[in-house]
Amino acid sequence: MELDKLNVALDAGLEGYLMRIRPRDLQLGHFVVRMSLPWRETPFPLEGVLISQDSERKWVLDHCEWVDIDLDRSPNKYRPAQGYGAFQYQSKGLSDKQVRRCEAAREQRITRETLAESKKLYTGLASEVDRLVADFSGDGEIDVEGARGVIGDIAGSLSENVAALAWLIRIKEADQYTAQHCINVAILCIALSHAAGWEREKVEEAGLAGLLHDLGKTRLSQRILNKPGRLTDREFEHVKAHSMLGFQMLKSDPDVSDEVRMAVRHHHERPDGRGYPDALSGDEIPDLARLVSIIDAYDAITSDRVYDPARSHHEALGILYKERGRQFDGNLVEVFIRLMGWVAYGTLVRLTDDELAVVLEARSGRGLYPLVRRVRSDGNGGHRLGDELDLHQLKLEQGPECLRVAEVLPDGARGVKVRELIAQF
Ligand SMILES: [Fe+2]
Repeated sequence: MELDKLNVALDAGLEGYLMRIRPRDLQLGHFVVRMSLPWRETPFPLEGVLISQDSERKWVLDHCEWVDIDLDRSPNKYRPAQGYGAFQYQSKGLSDKQVRRCEAAREQRITRETLAESKKLYTGLASEVDRLVADFSGDGEIDVEGARGVIGDIAGSLSENVAALAWLIRIKEADQYTAQHCINVAILCIALSHAAGWEREKVEEAGLAGLLHDLGKTRLSQRILNKPGRLTDREFEHVKAHSMLGFQMLKSDPDVSDEVRMAVRHHHERPDGRGYPDALSGDEIPDLARLVSIIDAYDAITSDRVYDPARSHHEALGILYKERGRQFDGNLVEVFIRLMGWVAYGTLVRLTDDELAVVLEARSGRGLYPLVRRVRSDGNGGHRLGDELDLHQLKLEQGPECLRVAEVLPDGARGVKVRELIAQF
């Protein structure tokens, strides 16, 4: 999917307005991001369509009960006086503090030094997770003090290492999904809570909540957890029990605060009230839980799982963006997109000359023109990192039609593994 054609709101456009309307209010020039039918049952090839012909409008009128339009991405800004049902998401935009913190992170560049430092932090967290897992399967008593120490170190190093840590979390090994998922969620919870303007102490709580959020899954049937294909209703109920189980497992642990416990309990609640276990809505959901929910979904979407292949960073952000205000906290989703960027540091991309590259720096406003390193074949079926290329500089010299990012790819695309590239940096 070419990014240009998708009409993606790159760095701008986060002040958008997502609105659910009746099909009769749909106009030519509205950008539809969701319909009451699954996309595969519609004639539209992409998830998201700009209504540009009467036949498209008529199809929607004849087949849909409602549609969600994104006025931000719609050339036609007509807004019906009444939406469909209660759902309307009105963005308030980011605070100055949030913008500053996101921009500072986006200025970072992945270098040999930041990568070495980040690897140390990542490995430290990985060994804490191994220890915690051993605790669960042993006497069931867990000791989170060691994990707290590493999380504190990561929170303290954010001003230099977010970009490199974000690259490390792109190493995804399918057989180590659970442990890596905990580590990745912890790291991204720390990064997002900091970018959201939270204080240091709460940032560390967010990291711990991210690390422990799926603790309850250790008590579930592994057969059901790893089942390929759709779960039956009964199996789904079984899986849903994990948030409550995790909460109960931490209940008597004096090292875990009430906030972290509540985040574990409520990380599958949704602002629209359709989550579990308590069907809380809006501000009833603790902010730590709202944060974990976004990162949990992002990491799951971008990972290979038994029932779903990995999707790209760009697709994952699209899903979060579409669901902001409904499944996910709107402000936190917007901060996350601003922090990472649609073309994020550490992602594998295809350039317009069809060659692959990895993004080293993705400053705001540079959109499809980040700093990259080319990915070359090593002649033995593997890959190596090639020259550094500043696409923004190229654009200044040659104009916007120069070489740029055409597509953001998931790890493993065309056989290129991020792990292999990181090792050579
Ligand atoms: Fe979960």
